[in-house]
Amino acid sequence: MIIRSAASDRRGKSFTVPVDGILYGGDYNPEQWSPQVWVEDAALMQQAGVTVVTLGVFAWGTLEVADNVFDFGWLDRVFEILHEHGIAVILATPTAAPPMWLIESDPEIMTTDASGVRTGSGGRLGWSPSSSTFRGYALRMVERLATHYADHPALVLWHVSNELGNENGYDFGEESAEAFRLWVQAKYPTVEQLNRAWGTSFWGHTFTSFSQVTPPRFARTNHNPALLLDFDRFTSHALLQHYLAERDVLRRITPQIPITTNFMVMRSGGVQDYAAWAEETDVVSNDHYTIGADPLRHEELSFSADRTRGIAHGAPWLLMEHAAGSVNWQGRNASKTPGELTRNSLAHVARGADAVCFFQWRQSAAGAEQFHSGMVPHAGPDSAIFREVTALGRTLHRISEVSGARLSRGDAALLWDQQAVWAFNSTRKPADDIPFHAMPLALHAALNHHHVATDVIAPTADLNGYRLVVVPHLFLAHPELAARLTAYAEAGGHVLVSYLSGIVDRTGAVILGGYPGAFRDLLGLRADEFHPLMNAETLPIVTTAGATWTASDWTESLQLGTATSYASYASGRLQGSPAITENPVGAGTASYLSTRLGALELDEYVGHLIEVAGIRPLASAPREVEITRRSSTEHDYFFAINHLQVDAQVDLGRPAFDLVTGTAFDGQLVAGSVAVLKTERSEDGAVLKTERRPD
Ligand code: GAL
Repeated sequence: MIIRSAASDRRGKSFTVPVDGILYGGDYNPEQWSPQVWVEDAALMQQAGVTVVTLGVFAWGTLEVADNVFDFGWLDRVFEILHEHGIAVILATPTAAPPMWLIESDPEIMTTDASGVRTGSGGRLGWSPSSSTFRGYALRMVERLATHYADHPALVLWHVSNELGNENGYDFGEESAEAFRLWVQAKYPTVEQLNRAWGTSFWGHTFTSFSQVTPPRFARTNHNPALLLDFDRFTSHALLQHYLAERDVLRRITPQIPITTNFMVMRSGGVQDYAAWAEETDVVSNDHYTIGADPLRHEELSFSADRTRGIAHGAPWLLMEHAAGSVNWQGRNASKTPGELTRNSLAHVARGADAVCFFQWRQSAAGAEQFHSGMVPHAGPDSAIFREVTALGRTLHRISEVSGARLSRGDAALLWDQQAVWAFNSTRKPADDIPFHAMPLALHAALNHHHVATDVIAPTADLNGYRLVVVPHLFLAHPELAARLTAYAEAGGHVLVSYLSGIVDRTGAVILGGYPGAFRDLLGLRADEFHPLMNAETLPIVTTAGATWTASDWTESLQLGTATSYASYASGRLQGSPAITENPVGAGTASYLSTRLGALELDEYVGHLIEVAGIRPLASAPREVEITRRSSTEHDYFFAINHLQVDAQVDLGRPAFDLVTGTAFDGQLVAGSVAVLKTERSEDGAVLKTERRPD
């Protein structure tokens, strides 16, 4: 397998990982088991078709058993056993979980919460990315590990720490406060500039010295949203600095080994700007866990996978963790339904993953995650999970030629920006219970129901070649984006903007003159007031085509300039006023969705936009069948995933061979199954080109 990321491409570097096909495996924590189990594990891994495991993720305390006293003996033996069985190693720097002796000797390495309470021992992460003491210990560990395994033939990839920011997102302690002050001062060289940017005359919070700047510690009312937004930016930066420090040690000692760190792109309100982080990795990897109580969890998964690919600029990426069965952190932890493990795994591959890995290989008997599933459950290999894991290993082997193929460039693009998420979450809006994710996910799902190839990309990415660009809840928008979207529409592109987009500028200040400030001209309208609907309150709207739909959550009083109404309210205070509009812009259009529609209605509306944009779906199939296309130089590989409990008809319009069953595809997709359909490559199978993210 060849690893080439956008970032490593720019360094003129690619890495050859000596493992064929799609990587298959998971986190392996042999320190929890006896050497006899290690040998049994390696044989079971072979049986399951496992090709790679991640070692060392939480092993600092078993590798550095006391300050500067290292024991690599047990890990050497594990490396040896795995290598003898042909299993490659992703080696994690074990810095996610500091050892007990370190927390005892230097408790100030731990984060402090907003109320001043310091994190104790017993969890993981929990340390402060701004702690220089922690950094020193961590880098010594990394240096020793890298030096020890530098030339081991089983080592194929470095995995820096684990989910940086997951349990050490915000630190309100003194060392972090000092680092924050320096960061603020570097951004705003004078207090006057800082006061202007943060609008500190509100409540008379004017700073007279940088020494007065603190993290948003406990206060009895909400903080200034501009401070919160910058604290998010700082936190992402501080975590990234820690990653970079570890990465640079690894790069110096083993320049031939690629480096990644596992992202959590769907962590709500995440503290990491992964689009920026990705630039610093050799390959993007992501962890994903479905929420068992969500009946549409496969749609959230698809969004996650598309977003990860967008962050990777279209290059193949690695699914570093997901669960073989239930997790142990959702209260009621649903087991997976029959076939769900396979559908979930292949849905990630369908959207660009070249690795399918789990947390974890063997389910723990002890410790905080003892009831989290593993590939080998407590029951052992004679279990439904291990049988499905083994079957999946065979399937991945059968479709191995897909590895390296890129997804065809999408016809639609959906813009996502972490800065907008932070701004959206940092202020009190007229309806604070509207989650940021809801609108992007709903629009992404609607496009998928129509089998439209969709990319989730940064607002700075190149828009050329897309027929439809969707801008959902992009609360913070740079003025140049409006200009680029206008130029894109003038040249024949089609844009859809949802409410709560373009409301604030880069500093978090409202763009004045009517909503949605940044996009008023593009959309040919303005709103002078928001009218959020109360919970469970709905209003009927009627489209120009005569359909009656139901609006919920949000309404606004819109005054049209050049835009025309596509749907308007049939009753209530806004009766007769537009809810959805369309504005002709040059050879294209810019539409505005100022309310929330039900899923089927949104499908209908998005269907209208697809028609306007002249998009050809990837296939003809029911809305619950997921279709994607990966393309190599010679072939297209269509993934068809049937989320229905009945068989479905899928028509690609050309003959295809199903790599999963090893037979010609007759158009019938069995209930709950996945087909990987190989065809000759068609002309329009252009791939998303690697582009540089503007600084
Ligand atoms: C991840 C973490 C793993 C494991 C897993 C459980 O966030 O990286 O180590 O704890 O969650 O779902």
